[in-house]
Amino acid sequence: MQTVHRIIFQDSRKLAALADQSIDLVITSPPYPMIEMWDGQFAALNPEIGLFLERGDYRGAFGAMHTALDPVWQELYRVMKEGALACINIGDAARTINRRFQLFVNHARIQQKFVEIGFDALPLILWRKQTNAPNKFMGSGMLPAGAYVTLEHEYILIFRKGNKRSFATAAEKQNRMLSSYFWEERNLWFSDLWDFKGARQETNSSELRARSAAFPIALPFRLINMFSVFGDTVLDPFAGTGTTTLAAIAAGRNSVGCEIDPCFSGPIRESILNDTKRLSKYNSARIAGHLDFVQSRQAARGPLKYNNSYFGFPVMTRQEKELKLAFIESAGEEAQDCYRVSYFDSYSRDHLQA
Ligand SMILES: C[S@@+](CC[C@H](N)C(=O)[O-])C[C@H]1O[C@@H](n2cnc3c(N)ncnc32)[C@H](O)[C@@H]1O
Repeated sequence: MQTVHRIIFQDSRKLAALADQSIDLVITSPPYPMIEMWDGQFAALNPEIGLFLERGDYRGAFGAMHTALDPVWQELYRVMKEGALACINIGDAARTINRRFQLFVNHARIQQKFVEIGFDALPLILWRKQTNAPNKFMGSGMLPAGAYVTLEHEYILIFRKGNKRSFATAAEKQNRMLSSYFWEERNLWFSDLWDFKGARQETNSSELRARSAAFPIALPFRLINMFSVFGDTVLDPFAGTGTTTLAAIAAGRNSVGCEIDPCFSGPIRESILNDTKRLSKYNSARIAGHLDFVQSRQAARGPLKYNNSYFGFPVMTRQEKELKLAFIESAGEEAQDCYRVSYFDSYSRDHLQA
């Protein structure tokens, strides 16, 4: 098996390089309106935004920042296939303006726009990002009534374009079975509250990741496994450090990333070519987790009913019998900002140690 990964350095408000109905899944995190670190970039997209901020017209700035993102959401509708899902990671912004502390509700504005465009909204995920920072409590301390609830979560909004995806042919049905996930993963992944504590095992420079507000690889990796199958193409229109691309490589899916800032080209190249094999650890961890689950489940409830035909270990349900995971053999650069990844055809225990 092989996958292909392209990064296109362009403004995603016009995804000219992508054909209509060519994308199976979108995973992304835009610059967050009204979070100070993105003020400059929004002002570059639309100079009026800079003027709103200078004048202290923050409601105007909030509206104009979202208006700058809207064409990207519209383009997603064009490039996504019927039945494809879009997962948008977004946080609200708390900001003190003219000495008035207030919340700018980004997730609601984006949710409303997607529905206006024609997407169906699906149940969303709250991503809990707990902080232990000493200054996390805002406002008047122990004195009522001027203290504020701490903002310790972000959203993963989920939308579908059109009707539910169909798997009609025998080959499509078989590929869907190969792309299944474990029963115990389903129970954790499909809860509406996520917490990635302890999941910080990133591959590329942490300084760059902090500067670009990168999400942990565990986030797109999980979403890709939940909402796509082998052979699919995953798009991230705000690619940044390329986390979604790395997660697609780890999961054995194709990907396209679009990013306005070309300075990410070198770091993404380095992550893909130098760290590719290490990305197999995400699937190794899934196997280790499953074996732990099997051991404790069997100790408590007796032998499991089914066996996975690829790995030979027990599984809970018939749907997991054909489940297969991708283990990376090598990665190469096909052209500037375009990479091809090869996977082992058969599984060996050595791949788990990669
Ligand atoms: C929140 S960051 C994404 C971080 C990414 N998820 C990661 O893990 O590295 C948003 C990214 O969108 C990019 N961006 C902003 N406006 C854009 C536009 N109109 N088209 C394409 N990329 C854009 C920024 O340069 C930034 O890298």
